[in-house]
Amino acid sequence: MTMTVEEMFDYWKQQAVREGESYASSWSDLYAIKMEIYEIGKRLKDGDHVIDIGCANGFSTMHYAAMKRLDIKGVDLIPEMIENANVRKEKLAGNIGSHVEFGVGDITCLEENNASYDVAIVTRVIINLGTRDAQAKALEECARILRPGGLLLLSEAMMEGWRRLNAFRAEWNLPPYPNLNLTIILITNSYFPPLAENSCWKKMLIFPAHTMYLRASSSRCYPRRSAAKLTLPSR
Ligand SMILES: C[S@@+](CC[C@H](N)C(=O)[O-])C[C@H]1O[C@@H](n2cnc3c(N)ncnc32)[C@H](O)[C@@H]1O
Repeated sequence: MTMTVEEMFDYWKQQAVREGESYASSWSDLYAIKMEIYEIGKRLKDGDHVIDIGCANGFSTMHYAAMKRLDIKGVDLIPEMIENANVRKEKLAGNIGSHVEFGVGDITCLEENNASYDVAIVTRVIINLGTRDAQAKALEECARILRPGGLLLLSEAMMEGWRRLNAFRAEWNLPPYPNLNLTIILITNSYFPPLAENSCWKKMLIFPAHTMYLRASSSRCYPRRSAAKLTLPSR
């Protein structure tokens, strides 16, 4: 059973109120979040105009801004998340904050102009959309706002990663891991070929499975050493 839009909205609103500026407003696994930031951050270039869609309280967004000289905008559906993101931004020392902006926005109908970004980042957002149509619409919106040659960076839970994890567990006679959250839809690779053919962008980089699944399923795929060395600014 999938979450209704209202239930999803209430869930993230509660997270925003309960967790404030903490990384935990988006996910309790700080290690995995750092891994995502590292993997995404190394694909950003100085000068990029970036949008982080579904940015929650801006924890990752601000890290990207500290890693490279970017103009970056974070948008989220939940106004309380954006309020917390702006508090985070206000607290930043130096001039990083002047290159960051936050606003309320819905990934399925973004207010952004066509072809206005070099990079769109979407981490663990599309899985929240209750229907396949909404998920496909979100990906179309990402394509629309990227300039020709732009880059879409997705880190989303995918069926493929979940299956891979369970195949690995079976090798060790472990019981299958349940579909982690039956209220979300795990997107599948089959969504992407038509979008990848969209001439609107040059390259779409999909992390082949959610980092959580990758971490558990294959040390070959997962950049364990580099992630272990990862140090991020302490803000
Ligand atoms: C799991 S959190 C991920 C947050 C952030 N991307 C990160 O990596 O930490 C999912 C976020 O997506 C937001 N969200 C859910 N539906 C959305 C929508 N339709 N448009 C924009 N944001 C949405 C939620 O409010 C929540 O902050």
